[in-house]
Amino acid sequence: MKYIDRFKAFRTPCYYYDIELLEKTLNTIVKSASKYPNFHVHYAVKANANPRILGLISSYGLGADCVSGNEVLRALQCGFPASGIVYAGVGKSDREIEAALRNDIFCFNCESLPEIEVINEIAGNLGKKAKIAIRVNPNVDAHTHAYITTGLEENKFGIYLTDLDRVIDQAMTFPNIEVIGLHFHIGSQITDLNVFKALAERVNEIQDSLEARGIVLPNVNLGGGLGIDYNSPYSEPVANFEGYFDTIAKYLRPRPGQQVHFEPGRSVVAHCGDLIARVLYVKEGKKKFAILDAGMSDLIRPALYQAYHNIENITSESNETELYDVVGPICESSDCFGKDVELKKTKRGDMVILHSAGAYGEVMASEYNLRDLPSIYYSK
Ligand code: LLP
Repeated sequence: MKYIDRFKAFRTPCYYYDIELLEKTLNTIVKSASKYPNFHVHYAVKANANPRILGLISSYGLGADCVSGNEVLRALQCGFPASGIVYAGVGKSDREIEAALRNDIFCFNCESLPEIEVINEIAGNLGKKAKIAIRVNPNVDAHTHAYITTGLEENKFGIYLTDLDRVIDQAMTFPNIEVIGLHFHIGSQITDLNVFKALAERVNEIQDSLEARGIVLPNVNLGGGLGIDYNSPYSEPVANFEGYFDTIAKYLRPRPGQQVHFEPGRSVVAHCGDLIARVLYVKEGKKKFAILDAGMSDLIRPALYQAYHNIENITSESNETELYDVVGPICESSDCFGKDVELKKTKRGDMVILHSAGAYGEVMASEYNLRDLPSIYYSK
């Protein structure tokens, strides 16, 4: 751990971003996607909306995938062109729709007929034509945590396959709506590329059946979901983008001239961010607790999804290891980062890293218990 001396000066808890690693990741994305000229990558802003991070991502020519009016505005402020912005979400408010229309974003990913009706009306009032993609719930199992699975019929997302024909036909009748594509997203933290193969094959079937009815749309968007290896932050710091894009290229059959869009979030930023904390106390009872100055208000993923983050004591000079429950200071039993975590023998003042926290970390931090938001540092 080469940065320890620098870390010692940090005010904790803090997020630390390895900008060189983010650059390496972005280079890999651009290189592996550009093999396929019809592939377009829109970074999912929800994973990390830190302006410095967004500025770097936009400078590599990626578009943005947004899920709120404020994300659209933030993306524009951080250099993403409106022509590369897609905007999704089951519950877009009138105000958000209007702001996105005024800024002429590329496409709304729409999730219901009532929403399309409202977009049609607002676009009409503004004298605009809204470009939309219809989000389809393809009923493909992402084999991931229930809270981040979205492509099954029991989820609230998208239009069911059985309703698709009716919804598309009706959407095409609205005067201020142009249906330009289909949108899919089946879940997050998908590490088995066969799941993306299954998605591509389902999309082929859906497009075949639409084509048989004379409907061919110029865009198809496969969403995000590519997972990362939370177990090996050092050995696998860049996600398998090449395997991902190659899998889609191999199994998806785009229609002639059709553009293929992606919305990766986690895989872009997870590994470049770590949460760094200090040990406040080691409490010994039936178990040993390492109580950190960071809690679920700084990183909620373990409490909310039982998510695993690799935890490392970077300052202990002990050769012995012990098992600790690593917990935060917040008045909730779920404020626990890991049970029976093997750490070097730990004492008050030691610095601990929770690895791979760059995605859905800082952006989900809160002031619960009126705690300060975490500090932020960058490698350069
Ligand atoms: N596109 C859509 C429509 C989405 O709903 C999402 C994520 C993405 C793209 C980006 O997915 P990614 O590439 O990051 O997997 N907070 C949870 C993850 C929630 C994901 C929500 N949707 C977590 O910390 O695991």
